Amino acid sequence: SLREMPRDPRIDASMALMSEGYRFVSNLCDRMDSDAVATRLRLREVVCLRGSAAARLLYGAEGLTRVGAMPSTVLHLLQDKGSVQQLEGPAHRHRKALFLSICMDPARVEALVSEMRLAWRERLPAWEAEGRIVLQQEAARLLTRAGCRWAGVAHQPEAQLADEIFDMIDKAGSVGPRNWLAQMRRAGTEKRLRTLVEEVRAGEVVPEAATALHAIAFHREEDGTLLDPSVAAVELLNLLRPIVAVGRYITFAALALHRETTWRELFRSGNLELAGDFAEEVRRASPFFPFTAAVTTRPITWEGYDFPEGQWLLLDLYGTTHDPRHFPEPTRFRAERMLSWTGQDEAFIPQGAGDVARTHRCPGEMITVELMKEAIRLLCCEMDYEVPAQDLGVRLNRMPAQPRSGMILSAISRRA
Ligand code: HEM
Repeated sequence: SLREMPRDPRIDASMALMSEGYRFVSNLCDRMDSDAVATRLRLREVVCLRGSAAARLLYGAEGLTRVGAMPSTVLHLLQDKGSVQQLEGPAHRHRKALFLSICMDPARVEALVSEMRLAWRERLPAWEAEGRIVLQQEAARLLTRAGCRWAGVAHQPEAQLADEIFDMIDKAGSVGPRNWLAQMRRAGTEKRLRTLVEEVRAGEVVPEAATALHAIAFHREEDGTLLDPSVAAVELLNLLRPIVAVGRYITFAALALHRETTWRELFRSGNLELAGDFAEEVRRASPFFPFTAAVTTRPITWEGYDFPEGQWLLLDLYGTTHDPRHFPEPTRFRAERMLSWTGQDEAFIPQGAGDVARTHRCPGEMITVELMKEAIRLLCCEMDYEVPAQDLGVRLNRMPAQPRSGMILSAISRRA
């Protein structure tokens, strides 16, 4: 090989991953003084990477696959056979176009934001009555409802399917995508979504033209055929589950608002011009999606290193967005950084990097930021509340991480 890859002296680093969590790759890279280090996880050879050159590799290079690449940690995606994350090349681009048409159409995104606003306002009286809520749970619940309505799957025995989806997500914890998929099968949710897709095709159920259900049910593969109903069901869940996951960022946004009193007062005065910058800094600073992974499908050379076919690669998203070379004082919350998903910044990669249409970069960044902005507005301008004493500590070895209390709000009242 052209260059020798620095190697972790330990036989296996699984224990370190468990105990260091989000900091694992960065600790390793710092210790070895390199942005690429070879080690082993569960005795499988892996190259741990961070930084923008590595981001270009995982989001741009040919000869990679996501199949069999994800360690079972935090994934919000259902990596089932035939779903978007498992595809490469022209088949991936074709399927990805479907996701882009749903997720990056400003009118559709605005419709989802409206559904969240409605669901939030529907819950407010109950919050006032209860006096005390765990925001993380409430956000997940109302986003499930908003997402199901928006996607067109809610007119099914509405509450039932939404409740099932909420339960699955709620109970899944950090056990990983495979278990989640198994759970969905056991619960019969996948079968009910499959049936729904078939009913739509048969004209028995007529969803609105702008819904994800409509788009996915009638999407045609490159060869002109409709999606297999079980793939269609999984792709629907590949939209609903991450929409609910945005609740985690909303919880971190509430935590940041609690700490950043100047920003909170600005927003409470009704000036929301910079709510987007605030939301983007929450995306950068909060531990959520720790890393993405890929496997080479043929030998490739990168930065002078030779990778054989079948090489497992782990890209550190958290470490890259906390790298002081790119983000001075990375542990400080500074909305003044003026970050934005719309730029092609290869260090600001909380949801992946590169060209969204051609790589596995997340198609949900516009949705994520718009939902967060609206949540900031709702928290600051439509309600008053207190943040009682609680454990707001965030453990970085729990994936996905969260404030330990789930962010309790009390003395809630609607703002006149
Ligand atoms: C892909 C993170 C929200 C749908 C990804 C990837 C990351 C990510 C890191 C890249 C995975 C890889 O490279 O293998 C996040 C985070 C979110 C979020 C932290 C915050 C909640 C969303 C939303 C949607 C969405 C709101 C849609 C409504 C997807 C899909 C993919 C994806 C379909 C697969 C894309 C592909 O394989 O081409 N997400 N995401 N995500 N995300 Fe998200």
